[in-house]
Amino acid sequence: MIVKTPPEQQKEEETFEANLRPKVWDEYIGQEKIKSNLRVIIDAAKKRQEPLEHLLVYGNSGLGKTTLAYVLANEMGFGIQACSGPALNQPGDLASILTNLQDGEVLFIDECHRLSRQVAEMLYSAMEDFKLHLIVGKGPMARTMDLDLPRFTIIGATTRIALLPSPLRNRFGSIFQLNFYEQADMEKIVQRSATILGMEISPAAVQLIAARSRSTPRVANRIVKRVRDFAQVAGVPRIEEAIAHKTFGALEIDELGLEPEDRKILQAIITKFQGGPVGIQTLAASVSEEQDTILDIYEPFLLQLGFIQRTSRGRIATPRAYKHLGVAQTKDNLI
Ligand code: ADE
Repeated sequence: MIVKTPPEQQKEEETFEANLRPKVWDEYIGQEKIKSNLRVIIDAAKKRQEPLEHLLVYGNSGLGKTTLAYVLANEMGFGIQACSGPALNQPGDLASILTNLQDGEVLFIDECHRLSRQVAEMLYSAMEDFKLHLIVGKGPMARTMDLDLPRFTIIGATTRIALLPSPLRNRFGSIFQLNFYEQADMEKIVQRSATILGMEISPAAVQLIAARSRSTPRVANRIVKRVRDFAQVAGVPRIEEAIAHKTFGALEIDELGLEPEDRKILQAIITKFQGGPVGIQTLAASVSEEQDTILDIYEPFLLQLGFIQRTSRGRIATPRAYKHLGVAQTKDNLI
């Protein structure tokens, strides 16, 4: 048996990640409405021989925002640089990235709701008139200097559009929302990833994995890789339902795709807070999770399933959640 060191293993994961990522439109599954609108934008920009307009893509984690940005840049025939809001914490960092871009190049900014105010303000003028307004020197000697920038395209991505400052939001030519994927599209994604990873897989196993992947491609890809591990260890040459079930059992993923953390959150609302409403901060503290992790990772799918509701007074567990967990709604935990 070949034993891989952790850096080798991480490199392998990254390579798979890169291999699984679609590079052209035809490989990008689902989100048909967005794709057809983007195709028009791309074709028009190509005909005018202009760079793409700035675009904002929002939606829950793992739905393919980064992937979409890479496909867009590739389809336009331009290069792409990627950075993220929290990593760009000094205006100087942004200035150096922008001045080094080529004409037409795409700058992908992930988590753009987390840009600092100073960096966001520098970005406003850069996006609007392709100029950097710099202040050189300090005190009475300070003066402004304008620097011309190449005609770049910003593709911003965020999971929290409501947190984006409106001057930033207004500077994007188009805004697209990525939605959870349909079962049929999830099945195509699972089949495609399994094929890229060299796995033989039965249609029933594809269907099962797709159904438990939270309508989210990133989750599907993660599960496909884990199922492959279990199959390899068990010496199973072809992925059938049995090995997928074994993997779900080991990972404690239930028939709806809920993981232990999701169930812990629902249990907490029901048993510790009598079904809610409970504020997000209190809920996060009670399950020892970061508030942002609940907001970005767990809550969107629980909302999608109709297991929780968000009210002005906090989160409420719905009768469906009680039923799924097999908890009776008594007068102590009734909504
Ligand atoms: N990976 C992430 N998003 C995807 C998509 N829409 N199609 C195929 N693979 C993906």
